[in-house]
Amino acid sequence: MKVSLFSLVAFVLLLAGSCTTKKDVGITPEPLSYSWGKGSFEWNKDTRIAFDGNEDAQQIVKTAFSETRFPVTFGAAGEGGNCIRLEVVDSISGVTSPEAYSLHVGKDGVAIKALSDAGLFYGVQSLIQLAEQGEGTVQVVDILDEPRFPYRGIMLDVSRHFRSKDFVKKQIDLLSHYKFNRLHLHLTDAAGWRIAIDKYPRLTQYAAWRKGKTWKEWSNSGANYCEETDPEAQGGYYTKDDIREMVEYARQHCITIIPEIEMPSHSDEVLAAYPELSCTHEPGKQSDFCVGNEKTFEFLEDVLTEVMELFPSEYIHIGGDEASKASWKTCPLCQKRMKEEGLKDVDELQSYLIHRIERFLNDHGRNLLGWDEILQGGLAPNATVMSWRGEQGGIDAALSGHHAIMTPGEYCYFDAYQDAPYSQPEAIGGYLPLNKVYSYNPVPDSLSTDIRKMILGVQANLWAEYIPTDEHMEYMLYPRAIALAEVAWTVPERKSWDSFRERILKIIPELKAKGYNSFDYAKEIGNRKEYDEPVKHLAVGKKVTFNIPYWPNYPANGEKTLNDGLRGGWNYNDKRWLGFADNHRMDVVIDLEKVMKIHSISAEFMQICGPYVFMPSEVIISSSVDGKEYIQLTAIHHQVQKDDSVSFKKFGWEGEADARYVRYQAMADSLYKDGIQFVDEIIVK
Ligand code: ACM
Repeated sequence: MKVSLFSLVAFVLLLAGSCTTKKDVGITPEPLSYSWGKGSFEWNKDTRIAFDGNEDAQQIVKTAFSETRFPVTFGAAGEGGNCIRLEVVDSISGVTSPEAYSLHVGKDGVAIKALSDAGLFYGVQSLIQLAEQGEGTVQVVDILDEPRFPYRGIMLDVSRHFRSKDFVKKQIDLLSHYKFNRLHLHLTDAAGWRIAIDKYPRLTQYAAWRKGKTWKEWSNSGANYCEETDPEAQGGYYTKDDIREMVEYARQHCITIIPEIEMPSHSDEVLAAYPELSCTHEPGKQSDFCVGNEKTFEFLEDVLTEVMELFPSEYIHIGGDEASKASWKTCPLCQKRMKEEGLKDVDELQSYLIHRIERFLNDHGRNLLGWDEILQGGLAPNATVMSWRGEQGGIDAALSGHHAIMTPGEYCYFDAYQDAPYSQPEAIGGYLPLNKVYSYNPVPDSLSTDIRKMILGVQANLWAEYIPTDEHMEYMLYPRAIALAEVAWTVPERKSWDSFRERILKIIPELKAKGYNSFDYAKEIGNRKEYDEPVKHLAVGKKVTFNIPYWPNYPANGEKTLNDGLRGGWNYNDKRWLGFADNHRMDVVIDLEKVMKIHSISAEFMQICGPYVFMPSEVIISSSVDGKEYIQLTAIHHQVQKDDSVSFKKFGWEGEADARYVRYQAMADSLYKDGIQFVDEIIVK
């Protein structure tokens, strides 16, 4: 047979899904591949859904159809087909994930094949999205789809502000529609213990309750707890029945709930209820368990035993983050433990606890998951690391043969502002707009193909210190969670911001119609205009001497930051703001290389009080022709005022001077000496 080049090209284009009447398939997250055909299928009142599976599978399939507004009638196909047929099969050519599916829409009917019940669930979600776009008319199409990652998660912090089981179930409805398969509940933290444990009733009679409706009120008024019976008590917890209900509801939506029980730190509420588990036995003074005390292990194992009875998840998250470890250094029991176990420092003492808890979980058929600090002092043999302080923890874990889940703050912390802070409810800080979430690639390029497999997936974390209501929580989640759904599901080659942007603009009104309080991305303001406007001035690229070093925790663009012509945006962590934490004080000199006439010098500072970022109380600007004798050009005093906003202020001088050297000093307010100062671009004109 003679095959012309033309017909070959046409065939390849057809296979590639390019021979379409629509621009893209319009499914979110974008599937692996698709190919349009001619004609369409009508999903109408006569359509029958045919599925033959066990009771469990029937339940999942019923749940899969539960969110659609099209007629759902189960039964055999009638005259002329008109059937949506679902089938679990042993293999599907071209895909391997157990969550894979194929979706064939023909004129007479629809066939969804999958390798598991979850695959059927996802095939149905895709079909529902197609049907919604055409009001029940679905163009003939073939879709082959599977997720990029097996772990696609969202974490909800239900400690800082308790959220009802109905709220959690409502989010499961939507998250499962966008093919998330893990819901991590941050059940315990200083602000409140949220799960009933029979053996330790004080956890829910006392540690779950506080005065102060919001985390902020509670935290500003001494962070105390109160009895459940106190008329002013605020808080709550899940009963065991609540948990069973949520776990089962999630299971029917192909979502596994992963419980997090914090240890060895973030445990102030436990240690208020059971002070004997801390090193000093003083209620309200400690966040860390005493690792030297056997009672701590008895407590943790008892709690985990009850937790494992409720949650069938492979993973139990044990926290592990941000332990101060301070009391361990002087506690006789901790010191004794270190000596007996040959532990050289408190990092190894933490690691001792993590190893021991891992053995306990493994003995019960579960695996340990923890924040990346569990690497400190040596990682437990089977542990999986959730990398939040950037990606390095995940990389280190993967390189040492451990699984990792990426959740770096820069891309995955949904408690950050999603738009210009002045247009948003108060947040903890940061700036994480939708397109930045979408741009994330959880597999670092530096990893070899083999090691890449150790990255199980990605998760967004919604910490809730500044999120007191259900509506606010949804507002912070959506639409960013949907961008993350595509990060988690879709292979990079199939991702397109332009296509996603078009889809999300249509999805948001639908979310609102369904009762979800999504941020209205159509009204996005975007980053500070200064961020996108490089500035030319006399000091760009000139040598800067730091009389006091900048803070290495926020090095931005290093020594070049203050005069690289690039100005900072809404977020002090955007690598454009340089941090100063040494007694909150800055002192730099810029060498302009020759004496010149200057008429203005200014620098900008930002303030956001939650994370302790403050304006300076005094700025001194001086100049010199020789670098020895300085003339003070101005001294500016500023009354630092605590507030709830994110603010920016320029401190500068204008006049006439001959100068080669420009010195810029900024002092901390004595009240906020522990704070941080973030500065950008010293502009000299
Ligand atoms: C964390 O954000 N402390 C895990």
